Amino acid sequence: MDRRKILVTSALPYVNHGLHLGHMVEHIQTDVWVRFQRLRGHEVRFFCADDTHGTATMLRAQREGCAPEAILDAMREEHVEDLGRFGVVHDNYGSTHSPENEALVGEFWAALRAAGHVDQREVSQLYDPEAGIFLADRFVTGGCPKCGAEGQYGDNCEVCGATYEPSELIDPKSTITGAVPEVRSHDHLFVKLEPFHAFLDEWTQSDGHVPAETANWLKGTFLSDELRDWDVSRPAPYFGFEIPDAPGNYFYVWLDAPIGYIASTQQWCDRTGERLEDWWKDPATEIHHFIGKDIAYFHTLFWPAMLKTVGYNLPTAVHVHGFLTVNNEKMSKRKGTFVLASTYLDHLSPEYLRYYYASKLSSRVDDIDLSLDEFVQKVNSDLVGKVVNLASRTARFVKGQTLPEYPSELDEGLFAAAAEAGEEIAAAYEALDTGKAMRLIMALADRANEFVESKAPWALKKDASKQEELAQVCAVALNLFRQITLYLAPVVPRFAEESGKLLGLEGAGTWSDAASPVVGTTVGKFKHLMERVDPEKVEAMVEASREAAEASEAEAASAVGGGEVLDGEPLEAEITIDDFVKVDLRVAEIVEAKSVPKANKLLELTLSLGGNERRTVFAGIKKAYEPEQLVGRLTVMVANLAPRKMKFGVSEGMVLAAGPGDSEIFILSPDAGAKPGQRIR
Ligand code: 2FM
Ligand code: ZN
Repeated sequence: MDRRKILVTSALPYVNHGLHLGHMVEHIQTDVWVRFQRLRGHEVRFFCADDTHGTATMLRAQREGCAPEAILDAMREEHVEDLGRFGVVHDNYGSTHSPENEALVGEFWAALRAAGHVDQREVSQLYDPEAGIFLADRFVTGGCPKCGAEGQYGDNCEVCGATYEPSELIDPKSTITGAVPEVRSHDHLFVKLEPFHAFLDEWTQSDGHVPAETANWLKGTFLSDELRDWDVSRPAPYFGFEIPDAPGNYFYVWLDAPIGYIASTQQWCDRTGERLEDWWKDPATEIHHFIGKDIAYFHTLFWPAMLKTVGYNLPTAVHVHGFLTVNNEKMSKRKGTFVLASTYLDHLSPEYLRYYYASKLSSRVDDIDLSLDEFVQKVNSDLVGKVVNLASRTARFVKGQTLPEYPSELDEGLFAAAAEAGEEIAAAYEALDTGKAMRLIMALADRANEFVESKAPWALKKDASKQEELAQVCAVALNLFRQITLYLAPVVPRFAEESGKLLGLEGAGTWSDAASPVVGTTVGKFKHLMERVDPEKVEAMVEASREAAEASEAEAASAVGGGEVLDGEPLEAEITIDDFVKVDLRVAEIVEAKSVPKANKLLELTLSLGGNERRTVFAGIKKAYEPEQLVGRLTVMVANLAPRKMKFGVSEGMVLAAGPGDSEIFILSPDAGAKPGQRIR
């Protein structure tokens, strides 16, 4: 087969969030495919980057009192580390906030302008007069204009499903400051999509560029009508690239995000001396994007239109996967099923999840479910019970021995059959039907185990006259094991490599090695290739996720416990003196202070209000104070706040403090002479 040249990407993670098990579906799916193609001998390059721009990054930087760039580096490092620990390794992991991307965005923009695809017109939008910014739909809430449900976002109602303009909301409020937004107008730039209609009709519906389900959805939802222009500019302030010929306006994050695929390739080219044209302009190079169904719209309409305009290659295929549910529900912070990648890795091996996801994924756009019970059961019964078992029951009988000429006459055609199955398994991998690939591989493992059962090497071992036969039976079993682990290598690469070492093999091997038996190498000492999944560790992971969610919620909810409420934004509503006098502010003495072990920000304080009156308060000041520093100090507390039940205990009040948060938070103290229990007035 010809050696294919394949460029692969996963969707660029937003810089604003840690990766969770939902993200890992895509990163694992892509990495498995990349590893499969490499095992087949193709030249594959795998690129990703952080998606950095937009209002969310800008607001976070404002909240944290730093430049947006400071957030980007730390988050990128965290993403690369999580992905690396899951075995997901890229040729380059870039950032959309890079000079390479800015240059490419400029090139795309110039091409869109030159082709006459850009229009300018006024847009009326809600504006937050206190924050001084236009509000994207997600930053406005109010009552649904259709059903009246409160607290709905500016684009659609989660209760009745209605879609509407943010300006139609009843009593709208900015989620940033709580201010009542005003309608203001501003000039925006649009990319016209209708000129691409015929091209997109043809491209999306042909040659498997997009999965059939997605192609049908595009046809029914968008392509059946005139294509709406795409608003690609945002007025300042916005964190992004300024539009060269429209100062004071910035490219909308979704314009520069996919160009980040090319920018990441460019960084790799600059490092390795490769040429960008060979990867993005050579028709012989395949380009495969892996994405979730929520962003299919950007990748199958705007992106091909932009690529066509600027003269880069169109994707060979946009592969679309569904969402992840856990235990058949949306991931839930409260239930501990919203699991961060790093939390998973603190408890469980990455290869368990790689196998489980591979066994659940198909080429369809369906959602997949991570059933935690099934996860334990499947990994234990398939990988440990079927595959590891083959080696554990045979390798020890031939430890230190050389694998003999393969005894084909003994194996009832099993080796040849498994070699032949290689093509069907490869076809399933190629088509992203890894569920089928795993079933085919496990069927080979079942047959190999039946062989071992029938030959009972443990019985042969006991009979001195049968040692030759024992060696041969083990050679068959270990060679079948080798074929199976080679086929599994894209999914569980570390396990496959360790398995190879057991047979005295170096390196990963190639797919075609499964067709020839291993002869003449020395069998090593069998050590545990993979432990069974311990259900208690799964439980501990869920518990840790629940606690982490609860701690961050508690931190955000208590004034000092979060800083969030005190971050310099004006408070939402004016209060009357009658409201104010309801707040019972007292001088309190901190008589005890200890750290809450599972929480990042919380200290548990015992406060004395004079006499025997004591209160326990959980305060978000751990990063600013050592507990010992606080004991004996006077401070000011809200004494009549309704008690809040938290994971760590009941919080019976709130300590007052100022500052942006983390290490910069300062608790208030009365002047000398004040006594615990005295009311502030
Ligand atoms: O949906 C997301 O998470 C986006 N950050 C994906 C961007 S993919 C690409 F276009 F950059
Ligand atoms: Zn509604």
